[in-house]
Amino acid sequence: MTHDSNVPYIGRATSRVDGPLKVTGGAKYAAEYAAPGLLHGYVVSGAIAKGRITSIDVSDAMTVPGVVDVLTHEHRARTAWLSYNYQDMIGPPGKPFRPLYDDKIQYSGQPVALVVAESFEASRAAAALVRVSYKSEEHITDLEAVKGQSYVPPKRRSGIAPPPKPRGDADDAFDAAPVKVKQQYRVPVEHHNPMEPFATTVVREQDGGLTIYDKTQGSQNNQAYICSIFGLSKDKVRVVNAFMGGGFGSGLRPAYQLYLAVLASQTLERSVRVALTRDQMFTFSYRPETIQTVSLGAEPSGKLTAIRHHAVAGTSHFEDHQEVVVNWSGLLYDCKNAKLTYELAKIDTHTPADMRAPGAVLGVFAIESAMDELAYEVGVDPVELRLLNYAEKDENDDKEFTSKALKACFKEGAERFGWSRRSPEPRSMRDGRELIGWGMATGVWEAQLMDTQARVTIHLDGTLEVASATSDIGTGTYTVMAMTGADMFGLPLEKVRVKLGDSSLPTAPVEGGSWAAASTCSAIKLACQALTKDLLEHARALADSPLKRARPEDVVARDGRLFLRDAPGTGVAIQDILRSAKLDELSAKGEAKPDSKVQKTHSSYTHSAIFCEVRVDEQLGVVRVARIVNAVAAGKIINPKTARSQILGGVVMALGSALEEETFSDHALGRFMNHNLAEYHMPVHADIKDIDVIFVDEQDELTNELGVKGLGEIGIVGTGAAIANAVFHATGARIRSLPITVDKLIDSPAFTAEP
Ligand code: MOS
Repeated sequence: MTHDSNVPYIGRATSRVDGPLKVTGGAKYAAEYAAPGLLHGYVVSGAIAKGRITSIDVSDAMTVPGVVDVLTHEHRARTAWLSYNYQDMIGPPGKPFRPLYDDKIQYSGQPVALVVAESFEASRAAAALVRVSYKSEEHITDLEAVKGQSYVPPKRRSGIAPPPKPRGDADDAFDAAPVKVKQQYRVPVEHHNPMEPFATTVVREQDGGLTIYDKTQGSQNNQAYICSIFGLSKDKVRVVNAFMGGGFGSGLRPAYQLYLAVLASQTLERSVRVALTRDQMFTFSYRPETIQTVSLGAEPSGKLTAIRHHAVAGTSHFEDHQEVVVNWSGLLYDCKNAKLTYELAKIDTHTPADMRAPGAVLGVFAIESAMDELAYEVGVDPVELRLLNYAEKDENDDKEFTSKALKACFKEGAERFGWSRRSPEPRSMRDGRELIGWGMATGVWEAQLMDTQARVTIHLDGTLEVASATSDIGTGTYTVMAMTGADMFGLPLEKVRVKLGDSSLPTAPVEGGSWAAASTCSAIKLACQALTKDLLEHARALADSPLKRARPEDVVARDGRLFLRDAPGTGVAIQDILRSAKLDELSAKGEAKPDSKVQKTHSSYTHSAIFCEVRVDEQLGVVRVARIVNAVAAGKIINPKTARSQILGGVVMALGSALEEETFSDHALGRFMNHNLAEYHMPVHADIKDIDVIFVDEQDELTNELGVKGLGEIGIVGTGAAIANAVFHATGARIRSLPITVDKLIDSPAFTAEP
């Protein structure tokens, strides 16, 4: 297909530029890199939840042919000893876990030794022969047992907004309210479970430097972490994460195999790979359990008079992991009286981690379930109730929204779904032995821009390279970066090369928080503008240059030429500019930063309205999600194809959270029990029926350079509540504790009441 440079890529459904590499196996992941004499490390996981290691006997392990060494806290290279040195950019306040540091056991499955061998098989076989003795101490892993000792986090986690100051008097207003809903909602521990398990390959280069292929969402975060712990300079440590088989937040912080692989490499002066097993991935990096109470006071009309939302979330003894759980309630709804509180309680596990839309998945499930309960209390349609209480401004922070097309989400979503044909009574819709339920909810997530740099380079052969240290965690970053570069220079996509996932590239934050597209593409746009300006400087210097008097704002780059916007015939070939300047290439940098002036007066969020149909087997209590319409307002959509994929993925993950996912603990052992994909249930293809994604039109001039808000997380937010609300509509049973499993439905008197 010939490229028409007058038709921009941005806004056009575009296939992934990295797609062919991925489907042909050409894309390499962290554990797939080889090196001469590569050693393999296998982690020995601790057996108790709390206590001390009294001895580690490695003698049998060392007899296995091929075993080179067994690293333990008593036998390893020296590393930094202050926990401060183990802090990473994403880590919460506290003392980060230091693997193989001392004899202390802080959670079940903690790494206690690393067997290093010439082959993976030898290291695994020998790991089974390492004998570790412990002195156990009493542990508590049950949030229920410690929720009474919850506390307000003493130090704030950077980037995580604390609950807003209370407004009005929510206690009095609730007591005085003619209509009240007060309920407790629970979400259990969930694990991320990306397809690609954690792995790191450390390659020792000739010059003594380390090239580290790592499964991470942030190469520069992990580079800084390793340099700090091992006392290495950044020019000696390069972290590469060109491809990632899913992250969902699990790769925001450095995972312990990274540390262990570098430790082994430094101890033995060899290249080393350490890959974790699926079981080991279940020992850390999870969504915290939460216990939430929502109290809504309202007029008989449904107008809210009081919102109280209190959450207690689990964290480890060593770090205060924090998320934004309760703020959403005060943000979504117009209400004079709001009191939102968030506390933590410590258990003997590893620190929880961010998991796709951290906090919002939890808090929005609670508030959107409670709003549904209120809708039935007052007999108002759930959509109408939300419109009645619609927040036109951010009452948490007393700011305007940069844009908020949530009303369009309600309207377009409801129309597509056929919401007007809903019969409001629970258990009033059925198809044979299946009860049909229609439920809806709102979703919300922050639209953030993070300080990000990009470099663009135009080459003599007419190609453009765009580069930034950001990651593509499967979200489509390669593609949107290429599209932005292509549009700025009016080039076909094939002429744009993307470099990302490498700590040596221009500075970018971890890919997370749904900020990568807005931040990276804004930086590329600025870099392209700077490059065009530089090209113009050179063009002016040409003999008889037609652009001699042109101003940068009057000039565009397109089809390999630089010309006057208003007189396209007047211009110069970029090749000629480079040639006459005796350049093979020309580079420029751009840096996107949040606009602090806008931030003073405005808040920026993405919104969604989710409509769901469930079908529930009347006898068996089996819930099937038959249809979901997710209508999203996320500003400008760069690539409708990968954007839709993000929402589909979010919806599927929400379906897992609502109906299937739960990590159980054996509190006697203090251990997660269902640590494999056979017993930790996630949706499979057969669970997924009809998912319809709508992007409503949302023009946003303020949020950033491009008006882009980000999409990685919004698809999961609120979708769990929409499913739970549909289950209530189908069955009359309100399940406030996720996941909604058959046992909970069957146990519910409302479900079994009918003949
Ligand atoms: Mo996301 S949980 O910020 O990867």
